Amino acid sequence: MTRFYFDVRDDSSRMNVHHESGYDFSVSKKAREASFTCKRPGQDLTITCRDMWEYVRALGNIPIRRNLKYVEIGTGVGALVPDIVKTGVKSRPTVIDPADYGLMLAMLFEARDRLAGSRQVRYINELVERVEIILDPSKVVLVNQKLGEAYQSRPDLAESADVVIDNLGPCFYPSTEILGASNLGDSWNRDKAVENIISLEAKFLRKGGILITSDVP
Ligand SMILES: C[S@@+](CC[C@H](N)C(=O)[O-])C[C@H]1O[C@@H](n2cnc3c(N)ncnc32)[C@H](O)[C@@H]1O
Repeated sequence: MTRFYFDVRDDSSRMNVHHESGYDFSVSKKAREASFTCKRPGQDLTITCRDMWEYVRALGNIPIRRNLKYVEIGTGVGALVPDIVKTGVKSRPTVIDPADYGLMLAMLFEARDRLAGSRQVRYINELVERVEIILDPSKVVLVNQKLGEAYQSRPDLAESADVVIDNLGPCFYPSTEILGASNLGDSWNRDKAVENIISLEAKFLRKGGILITSDVP
């Protein structure tokens, strides 16, 4: 059994839960705003928890229909896949993301215990529900790997999806797809790396499918 020991820092505006493996969770005590950060060797990224309206603001309307098959790359704790599951789609959506969902769930439980009695418990419960859906193999196909690794390990997912979405996932963190990324310095071409990511993501599409990605800076 894995045990988690957390270091909690609590001030008047935020609750911060730290785990020695390099994960942090930070939630506002007043607003609907929370995120994880992961600082592990070679990884320095933020794992956000955007609501559905934030996806729509960034990507425009996403077609949600019962008979469509979805793949989201870089889901984090975003609402899209859990919301798609709740609409009762016929085939389980796929999540491709290397984030440590078991650890993030334990961190949410810790934050919820510390916030007991406050109105933020409701928000944390929504995030818990999202992670539980993502971890439930009867609801979601979780490929707990980076995009390129997932493409190699799951050839059955090639040309499987009607809709592929990347909302500030690998397109925003293109260095995660490059070997030895921690020593890249200035020697790499970010635009080229994003282009390669988009071509890889398109390989999950069925004929006639659509790829939706956020604008990248
Ligand atoms: C900024 S969060 C976005 C989360 C969610 N889409 C949202 O809009 O709230 C970035 C997510 O992309 C994931 N990610 C980063 N690089 C990735 C890669 N190469 N392959 C798959 N997921 C990746 C991270 O683990 C993280 O969960």
